[in-house]
Amino acid sequence: MKIIQITDTHLVLDRGEMHGVNPYARLYACVEDIAVNHADAELCVITGDLAHKGELSAYGDLAKILARLPIPYQLMVGNHDHRENLLTTFPDTPTDENGFIQSIIDLDAGRLIFLDTVVSGEKFGGFCQQRADWLTAQLKSSDGRAVYLFLHHPPFKIGMPNVDNMRLLQGDDLLADTIAPFSNIEHMFFGHVHRPTAGSWHGISFSSFRGTAHQCALRLEKTPHLVRSHEPPAYGVIFLNAHSTVVHYHDFLDYTAFVADSVAS
Ligand SMILES: [Fe+2]
Repeated sequence: MKIIQITDTHLVLDRGEMHGVNPYARLYACVEDIAVNHADAELCVITGDLAHKGELSAYGDLAKILARLPIPYQLMVGNHDHRENLLTTFPDTPTDENGFIQSIIDLDAGRLIFLDTVVSGEKFGGFCQQRADWLTAQLKSSDGRAVYLFLHHPPFKIGMPNVDNMRLLQGDDLLADTIAPFSNIEHMFFGHVHRPTAGSWHGISFSSFRGTAHQCALRLEKTPHLVRSHEPPAYGVIFLNAHSTVVHYHDFLDYTAFVADSVAS
């Protein structure tokens, strides 16, 4: 089974530029690439930071682009998002009984769980007892089927101090304790870090991707401000198999340029 992950689209007002790139144009190219090459995917998950300042019009632009996707999509909330504006524009986005934008989708490959890790007004993320109770219920009712967890914020350090200080800081131990009794969590997918990473946390494999807009430079020392980079945008092509999870990091602009050159020549 194939799914797609897009992350950190950071759309800004009036389809403008930010950090030297145009988030709208890049997301448009991303969706076009998915439409051409992955229309057979089951789902596209967008792991938060959808609109850079959470404006209604930015979400409106997001809706217009996503209308071009030939596959269903699942929106998640990130620290840059505005929950109410997101839900106003996308009223079908499911929420839990406490208003968190978190939900599950059961596919043939297993249960996909989309966690809301946002702490309102903060860059860092959180995981509280309400969210722990909800997650426990979803894990229990998975009945041992494969589970794939999606979070905006990683709950551990990745070795980049300027990113680590805005990871899931509140409740990281609670999250670890919540998932510890369950051995059927196959993989964790993150947004937020604007970089490709992979590894494991408490024995569970994880991955993250570059965003479709700007990226974070690989700086392993503390800097006065987060250092951006012009590394290319990417999205994830992910195979959820019975005994494996395979993650492809697709630099779609390179491919698009190559195809354009081929057509021109
Ligand atoms: Fe982001």
